[in-house]
Amino acid sequence: MKTYLVTGGAGFIGSNFILYMLKRYSNIRIINVDKLTYAGNLENLTSVKDDSRHIFAQADICDADAIGELFATYEPDYVVNFAAESHVDRSIDSPEIFAHTNITGTLTLLNAAREAWQTADGSYGTCKFLQVSTDEVYGSLSLDEPGIFFTESTPLDPHSPYSASKASADLFVCAYSSTYQLPINITRCSNNYGPFQFPEKLIPLMIHNALQLRALPVYGDGLNVRDWLYVIDHCKAIDLVLHKGTTGEVYNIGGHNEHPNIAIVKTIISQLANQVDSAITEELIQYVSDRKGHDRRYGIDPQKITEELGWVPETSFEEGIAQTIEWYLSNEEWVGRVTSGAYQDYYKNMYEGR
Ligand code: NAD
Ligand code: DAU
Repeated sequence: MKTYLVTGGAGFIGSNFILYMLKRYSNIRIINVDKLTYAGNLENLTSVKDDSRHIFAQADICDADAIGELFATYEPDYVVNFAAESHVDRSIDSPEIFAHTNITGTLTLLNAAREAWQTADGSYGTCKFLQVSTDEVYGSLSLDEPGIFFTESTPLDPHSPYSASKASADLFVCAYSSTYQLPINITRCSNNYGPFQFPEKLIPLMIHNALQLRALPVYGDGLNVRDWLYVIDHCKAIDLVLHKGTTGEVYNIGGHNEHPNIAIVKTIISQLANQVDSAITEELIQYVSDRKGHDRRYGIDPQKITEELGWVPETSFEEGIAQTIEWYLSNEEWVGRVTSGAYQDYYKNMYEGR
């Protein structure tokens, strides 16, 4: 039986990954290490609460003692590091926590893995450390060159405090590979969407606001482009890289599914108007001041993961967005619960008075 130490497993992608892995493999054990920040919600894992293969440990990835103890107790074969502060707007307001969690937290995990896994002759067994990174580390592409994409050899050029912290973490992971030969992979994925995404991110925020007939805040001219991937396709790619990826390599993950933000917002409006309430119209769109340093376009070239590992996205955007809208319609209470408390104040500060 293999043991996976999954960090950030109560967040959006982490919880989808745990549910996917427990369904796909019977003989595994997952240690879910999560601090439960505003973005972590154990309710996402209700369906596996009685599954003894899922063990939850509330801990901060920056806490070396707690992480060391978890390694000693469970002796994981794999680490999949999802834990992070993940929202760009928050990073612009408060960069420090992004540096702490995303850089120091990753370094703490790397040290624990090296200490636990390295044998007396300096070699490692079949273990692996997978760092879940992002396309944002590459910076921004131009709208004028739609045929140019991020490849694994595109130079790192992060612009936001969030992406700077993720790029720094990636560099530490690479350094532990070349200095200590720690077996690693880094995955860099494009924008994810799907169930359990915290409603501060574009797609769930727009669905939630539209259902309340509230303004839909579109930054700048709405023409910034993001490359959207259904979250389960991301989980499948991580599973493949973990088990079949060449050790030491970086893999980009994306499905050539680029859309301007305004087109996403209009798609959501039109589906909700048909399905729920004809009062949901484009009148709700409100252009607001732009995000500082707003990257214009992201676009991933997935050729390497497709050619080497045979990964292709399986969920079309039409299917994925319909399923996502359906999920949020059936889980409005979940949205209410996760957006109570601290998030409400943050939300108010961000959008009121614009
Ligand atoms: P999320 O914000 O939904 O979840 C983050 C999780 O990490 C939460 O459960 C939170 O409680 C936990 N966490 C935060 N700080 C922690 C700490 N110090 N110790 C332990 N746990 C902590 O994020 P997400 O959208 O699921 O993203 C997961 C990972 O994937 C991140 O590393 C992010 O950079 C990366 N990523 C996200 C996307 C995307 O579109 N969402 C795309 C590519 C890569
Ligand atoms: O590309 C991968 C990244 O995608 C991940 O690394 C990040 O963790 C994840 O948060 C996401 O970052 P983005 O900044 O691209 O996602 P967000 O949903 O915040 O914004 C998507 C686009 O929509 C972006 O161009 C900003 C715009 N936007 C966002 C919000 C929240 C709006 O116009 N209005 C909004 O209210």
